[in-house]
Amino acid sequence: MKLVMVGSGYVGLVSGICFADFGFDVSCVDVDEVKIARLARGELPIYEPGLDQLLSENMAAGRLRFTTDLAQAARNADAVFIAVGTPSRRGDGEADLTYVFAAARQLARVLKPGAVVVIKSTVVVGTCRKVKAIIARENPGLDFSIASNPEFLREGSAIEDFMRPDRVVIGVEDARAEKLLRRAYRPLYLRDSPIVVTSLENAELIKYAANAFLALKVTFINEVADLCEEVDGDVQEVARAIGLDGRIGPKFLHAGPGFGGSCFPKDTRAFAAIGQTNRAPQRLIETVIAINEARKQRMADRILAELSDPRDAKIAVLGVAFKPNTDDVREAPSLDIIPRLVAAGARVTAHDPEAWTHAQPLLDNVSWAADPYEAAAGADIVVVLTEWNAYRGLDLKRLARHMRGRVLIDLRNIYRAEDLSDSGLSYVSIGRPRIISAPPSSSGLARKDALVS
Ligand code: UGA
Repeated sequence: MKLVMVGSGYVGLVSGICFADFGFDVSCVDVDEVKIARLARGELPIYEPGLDQLLSENMAAGRLRFTTDLAQAARNADAVFIAVGTPSRRGDGEADLTYVFAAARQLARVLKPGAVVVIKSTVVVGTCRKVKAIIARENPGLDFSIASNPEFLREGSAIEDFMRPDRVVIGVEDARAEKLLRRAYRPLYLRDSPIVVTSLENAELIKYAANAFLALKVTFINEVADLCEEVDGDVQEVARAIGLDGRIGPKFLHAGPGFGGSCFPKDTRAFAAIGQTNRAPQRLIETVIAINEARKQRMADRILAELSDPRDAKIAVLGVAFKPNTDDVREAPSLDIIPRLVAAGARVTAHDPEAWTHAQPLLDNVSWAADPYEAAAGADIVVVLTEWNAYRGLDLKRLARHMRGRVLIDLRNIYRAEDLSDSGLSYVSIGRPRIISAPPSSSGLARKDALVS
């Protein structure tokens, strides 16, 4: 079976490479010539654990090609997946479908009879039918099918998510499209992954509703964390216990600085806009968006509150990616927090194992360190902004020795009280009491402060 992936961004690339790994013949297409030339040399434009190996294996096996020539690639395809970007439209926040519609127009002229056009991009409900109408208008009489197959990949664990999904959602209106997509995902049957076959509209809605609900869950626990701070609670214990209730579930209950990334912020805005357009306002999600924006800004105030005068302070920031195992900084909390620290007059030195090259052009007046200890040198405060594994194992005593001050602010709750013992650090985290650890010379026992200011 010949598959074409239009758009070699995150979703298109991961899906294309994984479909090739299933044994299908895959062509990945993009308008970006530089990106395609790099991919054709076996170089990935994104960082995603394990993807480089799958890329080289499948290229070597002759199942995976990269091209800018959509017409040539799509001519013999059994299915063409549209996985181009759908950025937020300026003003109303709705998804911008320009690239999806442009791809549809190009495809209309070259598709072979019987081909299936599958929308993988996250799109407003009703888009599949619009794409169908565009193709039918451009090439009347062409026999083709339309399908929706939203993606639920998470950056950083995208291969695992593709290979072992909680479910695959297939929106179709005819048996041909269903048969083709069932075949494309057949390798997953062995792993008992449920396949949900539904209407085009439901598939489009499922994607937004899933991301909106997850963003809501994160925002809920973030607000619970705020309350914990006021009443001497511990959000991690609260989250663990409520998560054990099967109706709630343990995932996405990790309090932090607010959600970011290329999906939750964009998709919650789009979902809210769809609700408004269709006279069914999604008031919960509108509130989630507002709470999350305010939270990212509030995190900067929280850091600055630890300083008597930010103008002669140095702050070390560990992690700028919106989450670990990715080099992506799109709508990352770091992009809100760091400029506020700089504006307050603080000197900021940052470190990130992968994302620093992407963050550097976006963050003015920030120095970049080669490792976390170098970042901490002379710092009054060290702030953990992304929960990279490399930070979990830091030697906190060594970190403290490099610092001028003693405050460690952990916006991801990656340390436990015992990790801090003998460090001499004053540890501020999210939704948990402050811990003041005794310096190495004294008893070494960590003391919990009842109230966190
Ligand atoms: C998200 C969804 O999880 C995927 O299922 C979906 O396919 C993807 O969007 C998409 O629409 O393409 P992703 O944006 O890669 O994936 O990242 P997540 O792991 O979901 O994290 C999103 C944000 O929420 C991050 O800023 C993360 O730090 C934050 N988060 C997540 C928390 O603060 N706490 C949590 O417990 C979980």
